[in-house]
Amino acid sequence: MDRTQLKRQAGEYAANHFVTSGMVVGLGHGSTAIWAVRRIAELINSRALTDITAIPCSHEIEVDAREWGIPLTDFAHHPVVDVTIDGADEVDPNLQLIKGGGGALLQEKIVAQASKREVIVIDESKLSPALGTKFALPVEVVPFGWRSVVAHIEALGANWTLRTNTDGTPYETDQKNYILDCKFPPIEDPRKLDYALLGLAAVVEHGLFIDIATDVIVAREGGIEHLTAKR
Ligand code: A5P
Repeated sequence: MDRTQLKRQAGEYAANHFVTSGMVVGLGHGSTAIWAVRRIAELINSRALTDITAIPCSHEIEVDAREWGIPLTDFAHHPVVDVTIDGADEVDPNLQLIKGGGGALLQEKIVAQASKREVIVIDESKLSPALGTKFALPVEVVPFGWRSVVAHIEALGANWTLRTNTDGTPYETDQKNYILDCKFPPIEDPRKLDYALLGLAAVVEHGLFIDIATDVIVAREGGIEHLTAKR
């Protein structure tokens, strides 16, 4: 089975098992979460799900959700989200995450922190013994000050690259910030790194999602596995 099929299985499983009528739903960003969004749209359009309102994790997903007929809301009307289904780049044995490969980490973390349940959908390649083993940590920085933080990031042990578009210009997030992809050796203490990064004024957010995932749905060759956080 190829990875796209595994991603589809994970996303559709989460939509089928975690979303019920009447819920406020967070719509995740990325090539796995999109399958959950598509499935939620199908269930709404077939009337199997009713009275759903949703908050998107990115502008891209907002556009898709509108096109597919998912009613949208905002935090002014619904400050609490019942369940969010989103992807991840790396998941450690304690269900701590690296996210932000798709660039939407800030909005994703805002939606996740407003959610009663954060369901992460992945294929098995995302499982990792320690965060940073497989993936660079995205750090979102304000364009004005980004060069001021790179020495601090190097001192924390990372090699960084400024994320760029194909034409070489800096990639901009939905909030018009830049992203530094920071390759750490495996991250021994994610909480300490979280604290150190957020102490830098030019850092808006980073892709460490600590104690946020409540459930992880892993699509494996042998079937779906449902992991739950023990906190
Ligand atoms: C988006 O900014 C990310 O956090 C995604 O959730 C993450 O990169 C996983 O994306 P894929 O499901 O496309 O691998």
